[in-house]
Amino acid sequence: MCGIIGFTGNIEAKKLLIDGLARLEYRGYDSAGIALQYKDQPFQIVKKAGKVETLRQFCEDLDSSSTCGIGHTRWATHGGVTDENAHPHLVGRVALIHNGIIENYHELIEKFNLEHMVKSETDTEVAAAVINHFYKGDPYYAIRQAMKHMIGSFAFCIMFQDVPDKIFAIRNVSPMVAAHFADGSIIASDLTAIIQYSQTYFIVPEYHIVTLTKDDIKVETLDGQMAKPESLTVSWNIEAAQKGGYEHYMMKEIMEQPEVIRGTVMPRIQDGLPSLLSDGVDDEILKDIHEIRVIACGTAMHAGMIFKSMVEPMMRIPVTVSIASEYRYDSPIIDAHTLVIAVSQSGETIDTLEALRLSKSYGAKTLSVVNVKGSTIARESDYVVYTHAGPEIAVASTKAYTVQIATLYVIGCRIGLVKGCISEEAARKFIGDLLDVIPAIQQVLDNREEIQNASICLLEAQDAFFIGRGIDYTLSLEGALKLKEISYIHAEAYAAGELKHGTIALITPGIPVIAIATQRKVFNKTISNIKEVSSRGAYVLLITEADLRVPEEICQQQLTIPEVDDLFSVFPAAVVLQLIAYYTSYGRGLDVDMPRNLAKSVTVE
Ligand code: F6R
Repeated sequence: MCGIIGFTGNIEAKKLLIDGLARLEYRGYDSAGIALQYKDQPFQIVKKAGKVETLRQFCEDLDSSSTCGIGHTRWATHGGVTDENAHPHLVGRVALIHNGIIENYHELIEKFNLEHMVKSETDTEVAAAVINHFYKGDPYYAIRQAMKHMIGSFAFCIMFQDVPDKIFAIRNVSPMVAAHFADGSIIASDLTAIIQYSQTYFIVPEYHIVTLTKDDIKVETLDGQMAKPESLTVSWNIEAAQKGGYEHYMMKEIMEQPEVIRGTVMPRIQDGLPSLLSDGVDDEILKDIHEIRVIACGTAMHAGMIFKSMVEPMMRIPVTVSIASEYRYDSPIIDAHTLVIAVSQSGETIDTLEALRLSKSYGAKTLSVVNVKGSTIARESDYVVYTHAGPEIAVASTKAYTVQIATLYVIGCRIGLVKGCISEEAARKFIGDLLDVIPAIQQVLDNREEIQNASICLLEAQDAFFIGRGIDYTLSLEGALKLKEISYIHAEAYAAGELKHGTIALITPGIPVIAIATQRKVFNKTISNIKEVSSRGAYVLLITEADLRVPEEICQQQLTIPEVDDLFSVFPAAVVLQLIAYYTSYGRGLDVDMPRNLAKSVTVE
């Protein structure tokens, strides 16, 4: 949420910063701006509401000689989407960019009499004013003093007017990574902006002051002790963060699913059985688990719900799935026998992180399923099982979802095996079935034209319903979320059997209902529920398995997925729903990768 970048070195800063912002744009795209240093001149600041490409155009005539600057792409929190509220903010001798929220900014204005200094509606400008208030020529003193007063989450990059060629940075919670390379030093919200220049990097430690110069990067604690953060190596390359010939990141990421599921699951199979040993999770840890709590947000939470639908009936271990932002205020009943699983693609979602911290304070064991190596959630969990989905750039999560489910299935199967809930033979079959989803997904992808044609029924829709039973219902929640977030169609997911208890009143002639019926044990009941909506004129798009016999005239269109075991149909069916959402958004002429009001990686509460 908000992308930040800073660079100082021997090459042109303007181009590097704007190119970096284009890569970070998925973190927020309300407005963008840069501040550049020029020898013996005031900072040049250009900031504009709109996308990074708009900023690029406005910067075309800007002198290219600057080799030091900071840049920002914004997801608005405090203050509307205006040029004035865009970052960088300049107050006195301080230019600053920020990702996060300063919670006590009203108090800070009063405390330091800053009314006359702040012109925008943002908390960020107040932060710049506070640092400027303490700045008497010593950046370290000013930053240290300011830190004593600011409450909230933040990642700041700061330049001082009279300190040439240096960028200072500090963070609490909000992520930042940095690297030094042949042409200088770079810092950013995430690796996508850095990877082009360096394969090695470090994670900026919290409450440390980082100083970037063209020759090196210095890291020190607030009381001036030098620190040496661990150097890490990126496991993917710049191509992985590009569109690879596709029109949109979302399509590229949907297409990558067979490969990333294979890459995540295969290393965790030993002799046909699931194993988490290479993740440092040994069986002793899993043996005395009495219950499992999943904490996550959005799509990641939906992955957790699928996990519950698998584990409870198969392993008979209680699983509760909580929305992380609610869990924090629920006084959860958990203890040392609870395994809390935090699921997060980014590993930075603030609500999931805080829920994880709360769980630890209750003494629970914590394990995270995270995609981004070294992210905060990964670092703060007792154990981490990484998904190997590679960078997910499209705001709507796709490959992260299926890969999270696959990883959770491996974890669930191992727990079941260790606790004696399933036999070795059953675990072997389970893993075999899991691997079978890879060709099943590929088959769906190969038939995507058919899905595109089926999606035409949604192009003019204002509302849509998704219905299903059991795992199909759980998957419906994700299908509806995907459709609404990128097509702006009001979409609701309902348990098929629940519709008649009220919501069926909304079924009017022609309304699209996407019915998912893949679960054999409730198939006939789901069909009856579909009849209830089709007899009221709904336009039914049915998703089912090739071998299941569907009565005639129950639906207007049917999409079939390959035959797989009931617990695994979620994989190919999820891909169908992702493609429906994609083609609907595309057909409506919308920005598939960057839907309105959203941003990837939600680092504000
Ligand atoms: C929806 C989507 C979000 C994320 C949610 C959690 O397509 O992407 O609902 O799933 O914001 O994000 P992570 O997984 O990064 O914690």
